[in-house]
Amino acid sequence: MSMTNKKTIEDVAVQGKRVLVRCDFNVPLKEGAITDDTRIVAALPTIQYLINNGAKVILCSHLGKPKGPSPEFSLAPVAARLSELLGKDVVFAADDNIVGENAQKAVAEMKDGDVVLLENTRYRAEETKNGEALSKEFASLADVFVDDAFGTAHRAHCSNVGVTQYVKDCVAGYLIQKEIQYLGNAVNAPVRPLVAVLGGSKVSSKISVIENLLDKVDKLLIGGGMAYTFMKAKGYEVGDSLLEPDFIDYAKEMMAKAGDKLVLPVDTVIGKEFDNDTETKIVPEGGIEAGWQGLDIGPKTVELFSDILKTAKTVVWNGPMGVFEMPNFAKGTNAIAQVLATLEDATTVIGGGDSVAAVNQAGLGDKMTHISTGGGASLEYLEGKDLPGIAALNDK
Ligand code: 3PG
Repeated sequence: MSMTNKKTIEDVAVQGKRVLVRCDFNVPLKEGAITDDTRIVAALPTIQYLINNGAKVILCSHLGKPKGPSPEFSLAPVAARLSELLGKDVVFAADDNIVGENAQKAVAEMKDGDVVLLENTRYRAEETKNGEALSKEFASLADVFVDDAFGTAHRAHCSNVGVTQYVKDCVAGYLIQKEIQYLGNAVNAPVRPLVAVLGGSKVSSKISVIENLLDKVDKLLIGGGMAYTFMKAKGYEVGDSLLEPDFIDYAKEMMAKAGDKLVLPVDTVIGKEFDNDTETKIVPEGGIEAGWQGLDIGPKTVELFSDILKTAKTVVWNGPMGVFEMPNFAKGTNAIAQVLATLEDATTVIGGGDSVAAVNQAGLGDKMTHISTGGGASLEYLEGKDLPGIAALNDK
């Protein structure tokens, strides 16, 4: 099934229509205030297009994992932020039933170009079970359904998948198109050399990514906590470093399969404790001592990885190189972000989650070609899986 051949908002008539748009407004909140509005900003092109083209724009999203209606999971702060960003009133349909009386009334009163935001789709437990009743309720509000929630595309829930069974026109918004274009091209039609950088703590959570990418990349650089399982597989001791003993054989298998495509750290910053201010040392490959743990890639590895990255025409990065939340162990991750930022002529795609946080922490977000708004969704995309939220949309 092709993910790139989906109908888009430009393929359907929206003037005067009620258009239900599933966004991913699952943004971080602290005491009711939005601390990062990237996902809201990323949804603006679709919303603005629909406003400009005279649609009645009905937005919906989940936020967090509430167990029933609960004020701290309300989308009200998102409505306020959206209103500011659009420079336009966004009516928030406070409604514990999501598509209850209040929401229906708000929608009935809409004029062309108006915007309504529904309450958190997870206020009802059926949402995540992709139940029929709630899917039909969402569909009852929609002449056209637009999915722009890339971050949620790996979920099959009422508001992104169930609803598509009951609406004729189901199309992709601009954000989904953009994500598929960048992530898709990077992996499936890259300008070569294609170099992938994988990090993060667990081999187990990246197995399918490693397998899928090994077939496609020219080089796969592995850092972060998952590298220690590979080092162990090479026969080295790793002290108190993160280790997944059940995956040592898998790591051996991958190394045998990959040959020199797979590149592991050649030195490591080790520490006594998992603490920013712990005593540290830099040790060569195989040098991690008992009672110490690996917390970052070392300077020789930074050099090695940088040299390879400088030859790349396409780079996909997922997962930090060390404990980047601690300044003393963020150097490897920051150095990789720096190298990507200086690559001219290369497409750099940051695939979600911690690597996005790392790039932003380094202040280099605007130097990357594309930063995915998906965490789990980009990972599953990099695994080569079909994402149900996209698969459910109409083909061209
Ligand atoms: C995300 O933040 O990855 C998406 O919004 C999906 O959220 P979920 O993991 O709660 O389904």
